[in-house]
Amino acid sequence: MPIPIILDCDPGTDDALALFLALASPELDVRAVTVAGGNVGLALTLANALALVAMTGVHVPVYAGADRPILGQFQSETRVHGNDGLGGVRLPNGGTATPGLAADAIRTILREAPEPITLVGIAPATNLALALMTEPELARNVARIVVMSGAWGEGNATPAAEFNAWSDPEALAVLIASGCPLVFATLELTAQALATPADLVGWRASGDGRCLRAACAIQGSVPLSRRLGGTGAPLHDPCAIAWLVRPDLFTSRPAAVTMDLGPGPGRGRTVIDRWGRTTAPANATVLEGLNRAGFLALMQDRLNRLP
Ligand code: BDR
Ligand code: CA
Repeated sequence: MPIPIILDCDPGTDDALALFLALASPELDVRAVTVAGGNVGLALTLANALALVAMTGVHVPVYAGADRPILGQFQSETRVHGNDGLGGVRLPNGGTATPGLAADAIRTILREAPEPITLVGIAPATNLALALMTEPELARNVARIVVMSGAWGEGNATPAAEFNAWSDPEALAVLIASGCPLVFATLELTAQALATPADLVGWRASGDGRCLRAACAIQGSVPLSRRLGGTGAPLHDPCAIAWLVRPDLFTSRPAAVTMDLGPGPGRGRTVIDRWGRTTAPANATVLEGLNRAGFLALMQDRLNRLP
C-alpha cells in the first residue's frame, strides 16, 4: 500500500525536485500539497507549487497556507532560489489553489483519514504547527513527521541555524512537542545529496520529458554551494521524500532534539544530542548517512516517469 502523505513546501528550487519525486513515486499517495511562504513570499511559492503540480498531470489539491512565521518577520532566501523561487525558470501557469487554508486542510485530512497520515515538511513548519496546535488530539492520526530541517553542527541561514528551522523555530518546537514520531533530514545529511553539473548533464541525457527538463533547469540555476566546497548544490528537500521511498539508502540513529528559541545568535538552532550527552530521551530519528549514487539514480529514474 502506498504511504499516504501531506507535503508541506515552499517552492523553492529543491522543493520543486522534491514535489516531482513525490508525485512520480508509486510508493507514496500524496493527499495534499500545502504551501507556506519561505524561500520566497507565499504568492510566489503558491504559484510555483501549482505550476509544478500541473506539469506532472497528477491531480492533487494544493492549499495556500501561512505567509509568515508564528513569531517574528518573514525573510526570504533569494540568493539560492532567485527572486521567483525557481531560479528564473518559467513554467506554464498552473491555475488556482483549492479553496481553504493549509492548516484547516491538514486537520480535515487527519480527522477523516481511516489510516495514519505521514506529514512531510520541507518548508518553515508553520502550516504543520498551526494544524497540530489548534487540534492537538489529531497527533494520534499522524504516522510520523519527516522534516528537512535543522543541523547538528553549522547552519546555512545563520552560523547556528538551518533555514527552515530558523524561519519558524516556534513552529518546529510545536512539532517536537507534539509527541509524533519525528524524522530529521538535517544539513549534514543533505550535504551528501550534492548534485554536480556533471550529474545534471547525465540527467539531461537520460530523457526529454518536460518535468525532467524543468528539474534540470531549476537545479542548474542554483549556485554551487561554497559551504560545501563549490562542486555542486545540495538537493535538500528531496532527501525527506527519498527516505520514505527508499529508506535502505539511508542510515540513521535516535537522538534527543530540542530547539533554541532564544533571541540571541543561536536562535533557530536544533540542538541534537547524537551521542547521548544529556539524559533527555530520544524524541527523533536523525538521518545520518546517504548512498549518494543510489539517491541520484532514484531521482533520475523518477523524473523520467513524469511527462
Ligand atoms: C532548506 O531551506 C530552503 O532554502 C530549502 O528549500 C530547504 O527546504 C535548506 O536549508
Ligand atoms: Ca524548502
